[in-house]
Amino acid sequence: MSTIKKIKAPISDEIAQFNKEFISNIKTEKGLLDKILRYIIKKKGKQIRPILVLLSAKLVGKISERTFTAATLIELLHTATLVHDDVVDNSNIRRGFFSVNALWKNKIAVLIGDFLLAKGLDISVKKKEFRILEIVSETVQQMSKGELLQIQKSRSLEISEKIYFEIISKKTASLISACCECGALSSTKNEKDIIMLRNYGELIGLIFQIKDDLFDFEKTSIVGKPVAFDIKDRKMTLPLIYTLNHCSEKEKKFIIRTIKKSSNIHKEVLEVIEIVKNHGGIKYAKSKMEELRLKAIDIINKFDDSETKNSLIELTNYMITRKK
Ligand code: IPE
Ligand code: IPE
Ligand code: MG
Ligand code: MG
Repeated sequence: MSTIKKIKAPISDEIAQFNKEFISNIKTEKGLLDKILRYIIKKKGKQIRPILVLLSAKLVGKISERTFTAATLIELLHTATLVHDDVVDNSNIRRGFFSVNALWKNKIAVLIGDFLLAKGLDISVKKKEFRILEIVSETVQQMSKGELLQIQKSRSLEISEKIYFEIISKKTASLISACCECGALSSTKNEKDIIMLRNYGELIGLIFQIKDDLFDFEKTSIVGKPVAFDIKDRKMTLPLIYTLNHCSEKEKKFIIRTIKKSSNIHKEVLEVIEIVKNHGGIKYAKSKMEELRLKAIDIINKFDDSETKNSLIELTNYMITRKK
């Protein structure tokens, strides 16, 4: 059995139900909107976020209608942010296919992202899930702040490890943390458990983005996104930040010069990647992921043994071992 299948085992029926609800929720009358929405849902992602909502709920109680509302809201919001992110990053590939902006241009991609977000809000308001809405709307603000901070830093290229962690905490970990928190509160009233799961989500969310940033250093893409794209886009990630702090002045100058060139040459970008590898930048990022993994597992181990708990432990490891 594949790892992800094993992880989903305790919630396989619920994931099937989630998929059915998700699709029926975003059906609209025939037209351009419907056509694009169908295009988006045909290319399903890994569904890490709904999986986390469901597993967190099941770990501390029973999966309920509230759990499904949270999972739907969060996956809609996630999809919206990806559609917007590809506009922001000027990226033409998503999930191995053309991105919405590549096929329909930026104007339409912005509007589609807005629609998806509004749809999620609408569903949750109708179900009167105000606590979940409160958490998620705070998260959306964090994500926007994270993306803006990232742009600000890509202009100045002045970025410390601390700022990197602030960026990824806001743009990625905040939503993953919200998955665990909302999942938990949909099935228990125990505030201690809810907070523990929220903290767990933050830790694995950080791992998730560090790993995503590492994919950019690979030779070919099996991830379904472009590679060596972050450097070209002046995005400063952990392996690069570490290397800049540990390489020679000459290498540092070369790296900065390459990143700064708007029409940077692919060969030079590959050379930057080589320097990062030689200075242990990748190894360092991996050691950070391992630190976070141990902290995350510590939290999960505080819960009673169950099949769901084992799944969450597997999922924690998968954050590091995943191939896409
Ligand atoms: C991509 O998220 C955006 C990041 C936070 C790195 P996922 O890798 O979960 O995207 P899909 O939904 O599986 O495509
Ligand atoms: C993550 O940012 C996307 C969001 C948090 C919205 P990235 O730009 O690093 O993600 P990918 O690599 O495009 O998926
Ligand atoms: Mg981005
Ligand atoms: Mg991007």
